[in-house]
Amino acid sequence: MLNILAMSGSLRAASTNSALVAALARNAPEGCRITVYDGLGGLPIFNPDDEGERTPHAAAALIDAVMRADGVIVSCPEYAHGVPGGLKNALDWLVSRDAAVAKPAMLVHASPRSLFARAALAEIMRTMSFAMHEERMLEIALLGKKPPEVEVILAEQTSRQAMHDALSAFAEFIRSR
Ligand SMILES: Cc1cc2nc3c(=O)[nH]c(=O)nc-3n(C[C@H](O)[C@H](O)[C@H](O)COP(=O)(O)O)c2cc1C
Repeated sequence: MLNILAMSGSLRAASTNSALVAALARNAPEGCRITVYDGLGGLPIFNPDDEGERTPHAAAALIDAVMRADGVIVSCPEYAHGVPGGLKNALDWLVSRDAAVAKPAMLVHASPRSLFARAALAEIMRTMSFAMHEERMLEIALLGKKPPEVEVILAEQTSRQAMHDALSAFAEFIRSR
């Protein structure tokens, strides 16, 4: 059983990225369990002085979850052509550990725009030595949609098939490593 950790970069209650991550968890293919990380908003701002024995509990929980995962999935909005601070902060807590090193990771997209954030996030995660699965991209256009419409789109057969195919390809990538 592959244990995959999925993370949304948005704290918005009606977040399309969080809806996509939740839908991925519901559509996990056989042999994969997807756990949604929901601690982003509770992480203290990263401070290198607070590493080692001083690591805050919330950061230690994130590091542990990434360590234990066979792979990581991130769905993230773009703010002002960049990666939202909350997600970058979470990643910063992982930089000087082994947690990210060679850890399979895949980006998924809830917006057809956000090209700056996609590129920046991929660059950040490659720099952190995540093993990025970049061959097959999952993009489901949820930008600007309200929750009821988001749920309708995510329940469509084409969306479910796209999620299933992307997750199956990611699982294969993880198993091949
Ligand atoms: C402060 C702010 C800045 C944004 N800047 C951009 C941007 O530079 N490029 C872009 O494509 N969308 C931008 N957006 C739109 C969000 O990326 C978009 O609404 C996204 O779907 C929100 O994700 P969520 O539904 O998961 O919260 C911005 C939104 C906010 C709130």
